[in-house]
Amino acid sequence: MKILFVGDIVGEVGRNMLAKHLNELQAKHQIDLTIVNGENAAHGKGITPKIYQSFKELGVDIITLGNHAFSKNIIKEHIDELHDMVRPYNMEPLEYGKGFIIREIKGSKVMVINICGAAFMDNVSVSPFVATDEILSNNAADIIFVDFHGEATAEKRCYFEYYKDRIRCVVGTHTHVQTADEMISQGSCFISDVGMCGAISSILGRDIDEVIARTIHQHKTYFTPAKGAGMLCGVVIDIDDDTKMVQKIERIQLKEAES
Ligand SMILES: [Fe+2]
Ligand SMILES: [Fe+2]
Repeated sequence: MKILFVGDIVGEVGRNMLAKHLNELQAKHQIDLTIVNGENAAHGKGITPKIYQSFKELGVDIITLGNHAFSKNIIKEHIDELHDMVRPYNMEPLEYGKGFIIREIKGSKVMVINICGAAFMDNVSVSPFVATDEILSNNAADIIFVDFHGEATAEKRCYFEYYKDRIRCVVGTHTHVQTADEMISQGSCFISDVGMCGAISSILGRDIDEVIARTIHQHKTYFTPAKGAGMLCGVVIDIDDDTKMVQKIERIQLKEAES
């Protein structure tokens, strides 16, 4: 089984990059399951049902989220109808949507979990370890995939080491910067952060001048997504269908030419 996971899709540039490149990536790598993080898809913060639908029409199977999951209020009313969307299991508000889903892919039960790290993150209801123990003690699957949405590399690696005998894939999101620490241990794979899908000339996908105005001059800004040439970051994970062990994790980074 081959899984494609694309990191935080930021605004229109990120959505366009996904639309332009998803199908060629799926064909090139013979992908069986496509998961994307959509927490920044709607103008940099949150996601709407319309964007969810457009991702599904492109061929995305499952959409994970993060601390911006509910930045667009409309999602709260509709999330229960969006069957392939997963929100962070351990982040307030807890009453909307679901923190994990199980799908049958190529004869295997695959569980996709979305968890928030506790380090430097707001609104986390319980530690990611308590939350994951709760999920694992009540549910079973052949392959478990976690989008760990967090700030701290050490917390992400600690999570992987603690769960690598039970969780096959721990992939990080939220920092929007792809790390070069992908690895396989005991048949499970890890990367601290897969990186984002958004404008190359930006600060984490946001307009550079706005972020400077806010950070240095304390101006109130909207963190408008940046424009211009785009990049798409993610990973392709190859899992043996018989043993359910990870054979390979490969980083993907596509960049448009900057003018
Ligand atoms: Fe993000
Ligand atoms: Fe985030």
